[in-house]
Amino acid sequence: MKEYAVELAKKAGTVLLQGFKSLAFIKNESKDPKQLVTKFDLESEKIIIGGIKKKYPHHNILSEEAGLINKGASYTWIVDPLDGTGNFTKKNPFFSISIALRYKKELILGIVYAPVLDELYATEKGKGAFLNNNTISVSTTHEINKSSIVSCEGSDRNIIRSTKLFRGIRPVVLDMRKLGSAAIESAWVACGRAEAYVVTKINPWDIAAGAILVEEAGGKVTDFKGRTWNLNKSDLILSNGKLHEELLVKINEGLKS
Ligand code: IPD
Ligand code: CA
Ligand code: CA
Repeated sequence: MKEYAVELAKKAGTVLLQGFKSLAFIKNESKDPKQLVTKFDLESEKIIIGGIKKKYPHHNILSEEAGLINKGASYTWIVDPLDGTGNFTKKNPFFSISIALRYKKELILGIVYAPVLDELYATEKGKGAFLNNNTISVSTTHEINKSSIVSCEGSDRNIIRSTKLFRGIRPVVLDMRKLGSAAIESAWVACGRAEAYVVTKINPWDIAAGAILVEEAGGKVTDFKGRTWNLNKSDLILSNGKLHEELLVKINEGLKS
């Protein structure tokens, strides 16, 4: 299933790459200006969903634009056909495809593919995490003042809340960065480019593949109370594990401020 997911991500990636390199004006197909959807989100989704339906017709699929296709199966594919549409429309190369697979309640596979960067992150439960076939692991940094934290706004339209989150963390860390693709941000934690990724109310398709990548790379994944994270719209911290508790304290101090 992993090889097949990689194949689909690469196929969809080729289409996104062509769109990205073309000079065509990339139009928002959505009526909501805050909810960007281009024809490339839809084309990529068609390739991935079409491929899954063909090979695994009895599996469930949860994909950002198509919603839930429920077959009552134990397997659910969780897909973001284009994560970072905002970047994509602005010719910023930080966008990706995210494909994860859940068996019952457990994530068992995750792929994040950033076609312009030519980076393919892949993992399977219990088998480690890889970037372009090389093993990756979370950073070894345990000093919070040396840590880089990546973040985005998730689906929380309550900007005050995400601002408070920043207020809690920013004074104690080295740096905070927003890359514009949750899947890439989480993959960065898995490969040690950042110590943690924090976000409020993230949607499952943004982060399912990233969460299993971080776990398989030796990191930790919880909500802001330190509880096991679940795939429902949730507050989330993915970290190298060494700074997790300290960051949780700062996050909660910020949110209470
Ligand atoms: C978005 C990106 C962004 C995050 C948003 C997501 P999309 O995904 O991951 O970084 O801040 O919450 O919705 O809409 O480009 O697939
Ligand atoms: Ca997304
Ligand atoms: Ca998307």
